[in-house]
Amino acid sequence: MNNTFSKKSAEELAEIAMKETPNLKLLSYLGHLAPSVHNTQPWLIEINQPTNTLDVKLDPSKKLEHSDPTNRQTWISLGAFAQNIVYVAESLGFKTSIEQYSEGVILRFKLSEKYKFSKNNIVTAIDTILERQTNRRVFNGANINQEMYKKLQQSVKKGFSPKTILVKDRSTIDKLSLLSEKAVKLAFSSKDLRHELNEYINPILRPKDIGIPALALAPSLLEALWVKSSVSLGIFLNINARKEFKKIKSASALGLIFTKGDTKKDWLQTGLEYEKLCLELTRLGLAHSTNAVLVEAPDYHKEVGEIIGSKMRLQILVRIGYAGRIEGRSGRVPLGSILHVTNNPI
Ligand SMILES: Cc1cc2nc3c(=O)[nH]c(=O)nc-3n(C[C@H](O)[C@H](O)[C@H](O)COP(=O)(O)O)c2cc1C
Repeated sequence: MNNTFSKKSAEELAEIAMKETPNLKLLSYLGHLAPSVHNTQPWLIEINQPTNTLDVKLDPSKKLEHSDPTNRQTWISLGAFAQNIVYVAESLGFKTSIEQYSEGVILRFKLSEKYKFSKNNIVTAIDTILERQTNRRVFNGANINQEMYKKLQQSVKKGFSPKTILVKDRSTIDKLSLLSEKAVKLAFSSKDLRHELNEYINPILRPKDIGIPALALAPSLLEALWVKSSVSLGIFLNINARKEFKKIKSASALGLIFTKGDTKKDWLQTGLEYEKLCLELTRLGLAHSTNAVLVEAPDYHKEVGEIIGSKMRLQILVRIGYAGRIEGRSGRVPLGSILHVTNNPI
């Protein structure tokens, strides 16, 4: 099923989307192009055709004991999955609602009263999802022009919770760079965490449909050859932490998503906002990346809150900036292996 969709352009996928609406298999395919922690793709999908519902459950086999002990990162990933679907469904004229339950979410689709869609909007939505990619390079630090920054400000959620704060003043970015260097050093001193991450790094000659290709993690071939050993053995700890400092410092801006609470619901909502931001950045031609290790490191979230002046809980930090494209692209498992279709009404 992946193959049916993966060889097609945004234009061709839009044609399929407009022919049968909602095409829940196509929506599932676009959902599973969402970013996820370590690219675990921690979701299982069940489509119920008669009721127009799509049930997305966490796949318990994807649990990251050491990198994501609370499941925060995994639920954020689920939110990102849901956001891709919401974005395309809305461009098709559907109203979507999301119901959360303990193991996942159910997405429901209803034609909105003013059912009208424009092919351009659908192509843009699909194209943005196909184009979005995490970029872990050191960015070039160039300023984002005023107009673009204004668009970005308008697109982020200013409500109470979740709340996205965009930061572009250099002194705050510098402080957060130093804090991030310290947090990465601390996190990577854990052997268990390093070994877990190592399992999700794919060597150059052994591409996989899960995990992260070494070439997407390291900017040069030489570094890509080394990255797995350096993570697993914990060598170059200081150098790797310094790299994180440089990466954060090179951002044109940072996006910080805070929530009032720290529950599954907060994580899910963070994921929806995170992916919304990433898609907007992609539309604007800006690169993005995030680092779960930081948010999971002890005290990092509190120290960031103090610098930003927020008492809310930091859930994710997004680096925003300009950079060349990266070589390796994280794969995706075949849709057929995670999708189940039922024809019985619930
Ligand atoms: C919640 C979350 C946490 C992530 N944490 C990290 C991280 O710690 N380090 C990193 O390099 N990438 C991180 N990523 C990016 C994923 O590795 C990336 O989304 C995945 O490999 C799929 O690649 P893509 O975003 O290019 O499609 C994270 C993504 C999400 C959604």
